[in-house]
Amino acid sequence: MAEAESSSRDSRWYLKGMTALVTGGTRGIGHAIVEELAGLGATVHTCSRKEDELNGCLRDWASKGFRVSGSVCDVSSRPQREKLIETVSSVFSGKLNILINNAGTNIRKPTIEYTAEEFSTLIATNLESAYHLCQLAYPLLKLSGVGSIVFISSVAGVVALGSGTVYGASKGAINQLTKNLACEWAKDNIRTNCVAPWYIRTSLVEHLLDNKEFLDTVIARTPLRRPGEPKEVSSLVAFLCLPASSYITGQVISVDGGMTVNGFYPTHD
Ligand SMILES: NC(=O)c1ccc[n+]([C@@H]2O[C@H](COP(=O)([O-])OP(=O)(O)OC[C@H]3O[C@@H](n4cnc5c(N)ncnc54)[C@H](OP(=O)(O)O)[C@@H]3O)[C@@H](O)[C@H]2O)c1
Repeated sequence: MAEAESSSRDSRWYLKGMTALVTGGTRGIGHAIVEELAGLGATVHTCSRKEDELNGCLRDWASKGFRVSGSVCDVSSRPQREKLIETVSSVFSGKLNILINNAGTNIRKPTIEYTAEEFSTLIATNLESAYHLCQLAYPLLKLSGVGSIVFISSVAGVVALGSGTVYGASKGAINQLTKNLACEWAKDNIRTNCVAPWYIRTSLVEHLLDNKEFLDTVIARTPLRRPGEPKEVSSLVAFLCLPASSYITGQVISVDGGMTVNGFYPTHD
């Protein structure tokens, strides 16, 4: 009996035999996700734009015993996305269990100062890339028999933040896409969820958090009184890919130290 229970726990809390694509895996949240999924037994493919950094990560992962491959891809480019999925299909023999749309970027400025090019870059990187990768990966996810998509959006898509309206709009659209795809692809046993982080210590925002005044303002709005760490996001992402979360789909979950539920609750003692 105990043996049967433990084998059921193993199959619900591990990703052995599963394949995963994580975009933007060389730094920050994506890097933590690659390690979390690989550590749970998945075979992972990742991508980024800088070949040297990617190769350095691949060597490091190999030395840790993780099964991770990688290829250079700028996810804002349509032909490069097509090539990425061709590579993934060939590496994983046409079957993909997990797609993590993580790569994203930001340009912070007042609304009237965005150029058409900056608008296009942000939408192509944060929204169009994720949308198109879902389209391209769909046959592979379906063929795997049990698929899971996780988007990394942001609390900027949940509440209004001063981090730029284009970024907020792109992340808000991802949150809605999560819900639509969950309903459209449930018949194919593909679940779709979304993780929305608040400030997490990564290269994307370190220049902001290095400013003590700004950091103090962030802390004052955050009930847990600190920014988050990449591993505090990757653990939820992994959970959403595990068989243990098999009845969860269409959800947008904030990883934010309580920021989005903090209407007005003074944090000073
Ligand atoms: N950090 C935060 O506070 C925070 C909060 C909310 C949401 N997020 C979201 O979390 C995700 C990851 O952010 P992060 O903070 O981990 O960022 P990061 O530290 O800047 O890392 C981004 C990763 O994505 C890759 N990347 C960036 N643009 C790419 C592109 N066009 N094509 C392919 N790869 C690309 C980068 O490698 P290369 O530069 O070599 O391409 C790097 O591996 C983003 O979607 C971001 O919007 C972050």
